Amino acid sequence: MRKGLVFIAIAAFVYACGGSSAPAESNSSAGAKAVAAVAKPDGEKIYKQYCVTCHGLYGDMGASGAYNLQESALTLEERINVITNGRKAMTAFEALLDEKEIKAVAKYTMKLGE
Ligand code: HEC
Repeated sequence: MRKGLVFIAIAAFVYACGGSSAPAESNSSAGAKAVAAVAKPDGEKIYKQYCVTCHGLYGDMGASGAYNLQESALTLEERINVITNGRKAMTAFEALLDEKEIKAVAKYTMKLGE
């Protein structure tokens, strides 16, 4: 019941925004972007924020012994594990990033070797 009410409140809010004087088109695309940001974190953005200090922009900087991500043969699951729990000099990101963000950034590191 509570959930239903929250949903109605959100729907009413979205409806109210859509009904404002601004052009409907720009409103709906802004809404879609906001939804995408929540549903699918941007791995590249997270990488640039948290990982470049050691791995570098292209994954091959190797500061503090950071592994060259272009040459990494780890699977997505293994990368998620390293990022979540850390390994040697690499800090654990469990406290900083949520599961979806870790998965997104792990996926992004797979692209660095391409
Ligand atoms: C403090 C420096 C540091 C930061 C920040 C850092 N790493 Fe690392 N990373 C390392 C080091 C050092 C290793 C190698 C660990 C070892 O020798 O076992 C490593 C290893 C890895 C590996 C394993 C590669 C392999 O093939 O074994 C992955 C994947 C990885 N890092 C991803 C990330 C991602 C994604 C981020 C950002 C969320 C990140 N790292 C941030 C230092 C860092």
